[in-house]
Amino acid sequence: MFLRSRNYFLLNRIYLSTKKNIRMAEIEDSHLVICAERKSMPVDVEEGKQYYWCSCGRSAKQPFCDGSHRGTPYTPIQYTATETKKVYFCGCKQSANKPTCDGSHKKLPEDAQGKGFALDYCAGK
Ligand code: FES
Repeated sequence: MFLRSRNYFLLNRIYLSTKKNIRMAEIEDSHLVICAERKSMPVDVEEGKQYYWCSCGRSAKQPFCDGSHRGTPYTPIQYTATETKKVYFCGCKQSANKPTCDGSHKKLPEDAQGKGFALDYCAGK
């Protein structure tokens, strides 16, 4: 299936950004980040504990890494809790304030969950 709108392509259920003249052929599947959830993922963190946030979207242990990024250019982002509190981790993987949510998920299509996007899909939208 192939659809095109102003800001993205949908090809075989994968959205690709049209921004910065990125063409489909220039993006490999492994370079797409998967929208694990189109919303933040609240986690009660413990002071002093380290967490490894999944940046590729492929982990089965969202929002944290399970090693599924192997074969992609992405690696987990370390987060050290400075206090015991609830943290809203980014589930869409598009936040400019990784690993926490900055609201960028609202710029993704409503049916984005489980789909791949260019890393900068939400930048400047
Ligand atoms: S879930 Fe909100 S910016 Fe990613």
